Amino acid sequence: MKKILDIITDEMKKAFAANGYDENFAKVTLSNRPDLCEYQCNGAMAAAKTYKKKPIDIANGVVEQLKDSEVFEEVNAVMPGFINLKLDPAFLSGYMNGMKGAKKLGMDEVEKPETIVIDYGGANVAKPLHVGHLRSAVIGEALKRMGRFVGHKVIGDVHLGDWGLQMGLIIEELKDRKPELPYFDESFTGEYPEEAPFTISELEEIYPTASGKSKEDAAYKEAAMQATYELQHGRRGYQALLSHILNVSVTDLKRNYENLNVSFDLWKGESDAQPYIPDMVQKMKDDGFAYISDGALVVDVKEDTDTKEIPPCMILKSDGASLYNTTDLATIVWRMKDYHPDELIYVVDKRQELYFTQVFRCARKTGLVKPETGLKFLGFGTMNGKDGKPFKTREGGVMRLQYLLESVNEEMLKKITENQKAKENLEISEEEAKETAKMIALAAIKYGDLSNQASKDYIFDIDRFTSFEGNTGPYILYTIVRIKSILNKYHSMGKDESGAVIEAAHSASEKNLMLALSGFGAMMENAYEETAPHKICSYIYELANAFNSFYHETKIMSEENEQIQKSYIRLLELTKSVLETCIDLLGFKAPERM
Ligand code: ARG
Repeated sequence: MKKILDIITDEMKKAFAANGYDENFAKVTLSNRPDLCEYQCNGAMAAAKTYKKKPIDIANGVVEQLKDSEVFEEVNAVMPGFINLKLDPAFLSGYMNGMKGAKKLGMDEVEKPETIVIDYGGANVAKPLHVGHLRSAVIGEALKRMGRFVGHKVIGDVHLGDWGLQMGLIIEELKDRKPELPYFDESFTGEYPEEAPFTISELEEIYPTASGKSKEDAAYKEAAMQATYELQHGRRGYQALLSHILNVSVTDLKRNYENLNVSFDLWKGESDAQPYIPDMVQKMKDDGFAYISDGALVVDVKEDTDTKEIPPCMILKSDGASLYNTTDLATIVWRMKDYHPDELIYVVDKRQELYFTQVFRCARKTGLVKPETGLKFLGFGTMNGKDGKPFKTREGGVMRLQYLLESVNEEMLKKITENQKAKENLEISEEEAKETAKMIALAAIKYGDLSNQASKDYIFDIDRFTSFEGNTGPYILYTIVRIKSILNKYHSMGKDESGAVIEAAHSASEKNLMLALSGFGAMMENAYEETAPHKICSYIYELANAFNSFYHETKIMSEENEQIQKSYIRLLELTKSVLETCIDLLGFKAPERM
């Protein structure tokens, strides 16, 4: 469907052109004085200079042309030359009926679908997910869904951190504890056991222990580095251990991500880039891009226009070991080879921005990507506690994602139970209350995060996020549940609205709701283009407010005119679809009741 603003603008262009003015002056915007009008055009002011006329005369002439327009109910020229517009209620309700019947609520998909790889999640194997990983998962998932909704082919890759010193540390610690295992016997040529020599809880304990030891014991660290090196250079027993570590860890991670309603198409990791490193490095050398500096192999990435220093991109350490950079570059190699993406988007902590500048420049310079391939870094800010410092546990330790989720779930369950007690009549079983609490908790966390511009730091305020009032996830869910309950009531009375149309608005608040709904398509397009899930949040907050005002001012269930009541019900259905579509893109769902 044509976007509502485009319809209005085209109407305005016709009027400008009919009076002999350039149609580029016919720019229309949402009104900044909603008390006076819904849309406005300030083009007469600009045109006045070109045509050496008074702005008000131009405006009056244009208004005259629009007298019989079906799009507008009211068109006024006001001093010094503004054109104020109000949409015709029948035109607007026609647009609502169009949206209701259309695929994707009338939003046109992109003309040229692209293939896009989104790199998000970024969990590290054998280390528990902590809140730092929350933002990447939540924002990346929303972006993936938004991209698909507007019509792109989007592939989400978790890009596991599975290739660093942490692997060597785990291997070294295991060797200390269970030296008899065949993985450490270099002369062993048989089949390694299928079962991992540890559980997930052991693994989660092994890594921090080893990491702690390595900080105190230089020899221990040296041994871990050696183990890392041997792993990376193909030592059989260590590779087998790596598979065990990966299996155990990934099973656990999948469960955690599932609880967040986050899923990945690819579970690739840094280690998957290894096979591509030798050829990539060789080519960088052959092409004259990579050279030895202080023993390390580097590629210069600074540019003349830089205002701050961009250090060279390090490809290999002096001992020939690969780095985080190396795996990221080699990952670009396989992504290009296997998926031919038009764009790669990275959703990573903004503190890694300089690093990604180096990686992107290096990838372009050395021809790992095509000149037209998009490389985008979406850096997110830190999630802070109420004290303004990075979110920690009460004891000051790193907050595990699982604990955070559990504590919000608990808080939500308490609220629901209190709510139920207050209402008395609604009997929700304990089980349903728990399920519902989980759904609302997730909405609280995700909306609390996504409603902020991604690049900004924000304060994780559990009291505010879980509130049923204000700009929160639970408020949005509450609105959807309210609509669901009206629809249920209506249908349980044996009534049927199918076939009915949405009539021209019967009140100002109803028209206002329709105006809010009509902005959906343009909002979606813009939110995706700007990789800005927060724009969806602002939109649904306004939409929910518009709906609730309409709801409070309108007697829906006691409306005696059947036709009008049907029209209300149809409008409610559309509102519900738009809200549900939006929260699905943000990655959460609404319960049946709450
Ligand atoms: N594993 C990394 C971390 O925890 C994040 C990975 C981000 N993605 C990437 N392609 N480097 O910091």
